Amino acid sequence: MVEARKPIVIVGSITMDLVTRTPRIPAIGQTLIGTGFETTPGGKGANQAVAAARLGYPVAMVAKVGDDAYGPALVENLKHAGVETGGMAQVSGSSGLAPMFVADNGLNAIVVVPGANGKMDRAVVDQNAELIGSAGMVLCQLEIPMETLSYTLDFCARASVPVMLDPAPAADLPDAVWNQVAWFTPNETEAAHYVGDSADAEASAKRLLDKGLRGVVLKRGGEGAFVAVAGGRAEWVKAFKVDAIDTVAAGDCFNGAFAVALLEGKDAWTAARFANAAAAICVTRKGAAASMPMRHEVDAFLRSN
Ligand code: RIB
Repeated sequence: MVEARKPIVIVGSITMDLVTRTPRIPAIGQTLIGTGFETTPGGKGANQAVAAARLGYPVAMVAKVGDDAYGPALVENLKHAGVETGGMAQVSGSSGLAPMFVADNGLNAIVVVPGANGKMDRAVVDQNAELIGSAGMVLCQLEIPMETLSYTLDFCARASVPVMLDPAPAADLPDAVWNQVAWFTPNETEAAHYVGDSADAEASAKRLLDKGLRGVVLKRGGEGAFVAVAGGRAEWVKAFKVDAIDTVAAGDCFNGAFAVALLEGKDAWTAARFANAAAAICVTRKGAAASMPMRHEVDAFLRSN
């Protein structure tokens, strides 16, 4: 008999991205003529959920949307990707929104307006305790209130459920977090927030592990990822070379894919290679959740690279 896979559960954010495409990110006080505008589903939590679901893994989302026009569209987008949405709730007021600029060179600047994500409270964890406790891994980010994140991490620690924390956008973390997280996955600017100068990946990873973390993945975009575990291996996993047109949610794609590969039994460095491949495809496409690749696409990419 095949044992059922324990789901990935995301306790996190879901947002409608309001994307202005522009030749370059405008300077302070500057007006530019844009090249396009789209509303497209995003939010770090939802992006990670879609990334993992499109790779064929069972995924459930615990999140809140508003009672505006965006709320139902955001939930529908998750369902369409195969994400279980029974842990989602609608609250009064606006959904999370993320106005952003995406420049022709693929780089971006984002402001996140929490909306319903700011209403994620302890009750949402209690209401979904059975689901969260049944997870193979819980994925969190920092777009919900810190108090709710702490409550989630306490719950997962008691239930022995491993947590991958994407510490984005960077924020000061309670001390307890360092011992409660299995995988901590900052990009370079986020790593700088947690350790000061983050230019040297090996030194940064060591400083993070010294705080009590068990595993660290330093996401470095076009360079790849530096993966280190406490008291063990610490190595680069190089990125694949592609022509990026939109880097929004590439880090989310990495996290979703990394979690899938770990839960499928791969070691962390092999899992990071799989995640690098998924992220490489993601940056060649426009949008956040919309840019996540399917499993067969990642497999084909790895065969040909
Ligand atoms: O990581 C990318 C995401 O960050 C975007 O989809 C936007 O919603 C912000 O949350």
